Amino acid sequence: MRVRFSIQRFNPALDAKPRFMSYRVEVARDATVLEALVRIKEEVDGTLAFRASCRQAICGSCSMEINGHEKLACKTQVLAELDRHGEIKIAPLKNMRIVKDLVADMGPFWHKVRDITPWLIPEGYGTIAISPSTMKTFDNVDACIMCGACLAACNSNEVSEGFLGPAALAKSYRFIADPREGNKKERLLSLQHEDGIWDCVRCNFCVEVCPKDVKPMEQIIKIRRASIQEGMRWTKGSRHITGFLDIVKREGRLNEAAMPLKLIGTDIAGLLRIIPLGIRMLIKGKVPLHFKRGIEGIKDIRRIFRERGL
Ligand code: SF4
Ligand code: SF4
Ligand code: FES
Repeated sequence: MRVRFSIQRFNPALDAKPRFMSYRVEVARDATVLEALVRIKEEVDGTLAFRASCRQAICGSCSMEINGHEKLACKTQVLAELDRHGEIKIAPLKNMRIVKDLVADMGPFWHKVRDITPWLIPEGYGTIAISPSTMKTFDNVDACIMCGACLAACNSNEVSEGFLGPAALAKSYRFIADPREGNKKERLLSLQHEDGIWDCVRCNFCVEVCPKDVKPMEQIIKIRRASIQEGMRWTKGSRHITGFLDIVKREGRLNEAAMPLKLIGTDIAGLLRIIPLGIRMLIKGKVPLHFKRGIEGIKDIRRIFRERGL
């Protein structure tokens, strides 16, 4: 079948800005986007630049934006894209510097991974057997092929370049969950800074785009839980979670008027800053005028907390 591909081209040495160019080529009905790109490069325009190697969704190098979504070109069928979008539009991974055409600069991605110390720091020199059930807690993280799709899709990374990002944080969880790791507490401590685990806004995009089902956001949530269990409760994010739980345990439901106080604590300047917010909440009826000791059925809610050890 003859298909038209719209491909973003940009050579920073020659072009002022990226532009889309159109290519028509004959491809098989079961062709992947990568096969189509190879055909365009070999038969139409040899100057087109893209990255690829394994052609089997193993090396992670052909990650790009296909019809607005971060995907592996070697795992994406041309026909499926045409059926769904009626066209094939290809661009490099967003939020990364373009080296040329579809080749994005993966340097910042690798720096983030390196920053989490991506290797095991063993407790000692003895042998520790790991059960299959323990392995299961992190083996899907080991499936990561470092394609960078999750970082390109990440909302937090878009506004906060320093954010460690989904792949690096998922990799960090892999070591935190490993019983052989001797540096678990130090690892957790190193992720409490403003670009660490609490910078994730839980948009779920990293889970949606990951071609290997690593589910980075879920690993970030597990690190948050482990941090709170280790007593690391000084960040705003952790105070939000513990404050939320405290209020529900005490009153049986969320009291939005009490949440800012839980977040700010005894910081006088911070308390003064939220007075206008408090007034607006009062006007909108968000502050209960009759503070109750708890909703009906509060005893059952407290029992749930007790049973879960909270
Ligand atoms: S869930 Fe968190 S880490 Fe994942 S894409 Fe959204 S902000 Fe980024
Ligand atoms: S977590 Fe998934 S999307 Fe992110 S780099 Fe690894 S394989 Fe790619
Ligand atoms: S070429 Fe290796 S993942 Fe696509």
